[in-house]
Amino acid sequence: MLYDLNSFLRQASPVLQQRLQWLIQTANTHNCACYLVGGCVRDWLLERPVGDIDVVVEGDAIALAKVWAAVWPDQLHTHPPFGTATLSWQDSSLDLISARSEYYPQPAALPVVSFANLAADLARRDFTINCLALRLINQPTELIDPQHGYADLQHGLIRVLHDLSFINDPTRILRAIRFAARLNFELEPQTAILLQHALPWLDQTTPARLWNELGLLLTEPSALVALSLADSWGVLNQLFGSGGWSASLNQQAQTLLANQSDQQLAIVWLLLMSQLAPSAAQTQTQRFSLPKPIRLMVEQWPQLVAFEATLSQTTLSAGQLDRLLSPFEPLLLEVWASNQATSIQHQIKYYLQYLRPIASILTGRDLQAQGIPAGPNYKTLLAEARERQLDQFEQANPNLC
Ligand code: CTP
Repeated sequence: MLYDLNSFLRQASPVLQQRLQWLIQTANTHNCACYLVGGCVRDWLLERPVGDIDVVVEGDAIALAKVWAAVWPDQLHTHPPFGTATLSWQDSSLDLISARSEYYPQPAALPVVSFANLAADLARRDFTINCLALRLINQPTELIDPQHGYADLQHGLIRVLHDLSFINDPTRILRAIRFAARLNFELEPQTAILLQHALPWLDQTTPARLWNELGLLLTEPSALVALSLADSWGVLNQLFGSGGWSASLNQQAQTLLANQSDQQLAIVWLLLMSQLAPSAAQTQTQRFSLPKPIRLMVEQWPQLVAFEATLSQTTLSAGQLDRLLSPFEPLLLEVWASNQATSIQHQIKYYLQYLRPIASILTGRDLQAQGIPAGPNYKTLLAEARERQLDQFEQANPNLC
């Protein structure tokens, strides 16, 4: 089937359109074959928003990128070992990739690359639906589809190109989940079997490479669907040794994300880690180098769990509640509370909404002004004063708690 590239260009931003028009002319003038490849072709055929653009060049992509950067005021980053260059501007970026073939010296290791033609470049890819290309030329162009990816797109199937795909690159297991969740696709039956066989190879893959994909999976809008798939396919168990993603955890996540979608990574990670023993949760959090605020919340989690009995059995005054909960991050309190008894949820909400925002009247400066020598007792004095202040607040506002 022939495709008119103008209809691809029309969905792009004006800035990207200009650049792609230029690329088509330049490639044609220099008789250099350039192709739109992978996700951008897949998403365009599916009539989904097209993200970053990958262009495969049969030739020296870095040399072409340097010509580009001399014409357009874009940022250029080159990666000579892979023969790739990234051009980026305000709202988007584009990768120019020298067509290459890949060979995996060992399973789960990085591939050895050598320059090749488009056919070899497509053959090294993960799934048939990502193995589609359109030549950038000035006239209608044929869809290049050596692995019948278009048919799989129509049938909603994720299919690897060969039996060793997941073993060569176990991060593709996470990619399969991500695409299945995002596109609402299924694994083609043989691909599902291959994925199961390859699960143990996740252990041989470096945490940095795993995180490249796991981080994307956990931050996509379809992350909760992806986690349910990852759980049912045994991937969470393989990655974390135990735990999982139950329907109730999913419900908790949905409720929390409804108000704080900007905290998605922290929320889903804390919920995932809440299923592991505290030491395992900390090990996994360090292993994948989660951002420091999330690491701190994972470390604090068991301390909060230890207060569960106090919070559920005792009636704490506002001052006591504040003293107990003030060391914890608000988000941690909300995530932990989301699975607790209503009385605990109520106390945490009261604390976060009314008590935590109250500024302490007494400060260290006041103590200095009173002539009290600075020292460790300041902490105690300030804490006692705050407790009294909050108890008075509660007496004055009995209807809030
Ligand atoms: N690719 C692969 N194996 C991987 C990673 C990537 O074969 N482990 C290939 C795929 O063909 C993919 C292309 O490299 O289409 C570009 O990778 P990436 O940008 O991660 O994929 P997209 O399909 O563009 O994904 P997204 O829509 O999430 O950007």
